[in-house]
Amino acid sequence: REPAEVMADGASTLSELRELAKGCRRCPLWREATQTVFGEGPGNATVVFVGEQPGDQEDIAGKPFVGPAGKVFNAILDDAGVDRQKVYVTNAVKHFKFEPRGKRRIHSKPNAGEVQACRWWIDREFELIKPELAVALGATAALSLLGNAIPVTKMRGQVIEREDGLRVFITIHPSFILRIQEPADKEAERERFLDDLKQVKKLMT
Ligand code: URA
Ligand code: SF4
Repeated sequence: REPAEVMADGASTLSELRELAKGCRRCPLWREATQTVFGEGPGNATVVFVGEQPGDQEDIAGKPFVGPAGKVFNAILDDAGVDRQKVYVTNAVKHFKFEPRGKRRIHSKPNAGEVQACRWWIDREFELIKPELAVALGATAALSLLGNAIPVTKMRGQVIEREDGLRVFITIHPSFILRIQEPADKEAERERFLDDLKQVKKLMT
């Protein structure tokens, strides 16, 4: 892009972008959350993983995927032979949205308007990183990256190419595995997610 445009956006590096995002007021979610949880990882990553939004623990830590879903994600990434330190991990929505229930904060799904508002940040992350592949972890990430609703359980394992050339690999969100109660079903779903991440590993250069 033109240097003037970069300046207008106020950030020409990922760390500048992260600083700017701390003060984002593009949607109402900043009001109740502790902090902006920006993406994390090397600026020259060839693959960017996109989740939904930070959870309770991520909101407190200020880092993506450090809570229960993050533990599942890290373990399966490791099994697939993908080094988390070498990939960039971010979320479609960068503030935690929740309903208070007693002392607990229960995750609530971001709506299409919030996803649209926060797309501004993810677009800038992709412009700066220029990865070869994006991995949409679940429906919210797919909506953010592709602009329309995707049936992820039907389309998982597929790569969709955007008009700008970015390839988007579709899979489920790791919290989907956490929610399965029956042990055999849980194990089967874990294996399917592992197969998806092994495919991602093959697509990585
Ligand atoms: N779930 C997400 O989608 N992202 C996180 O960072 C944590 C949980
Ligand atoms: Fe800004 Fe995204 Fe936070 Fe909304 S969720 S205030 S768009 S950073």
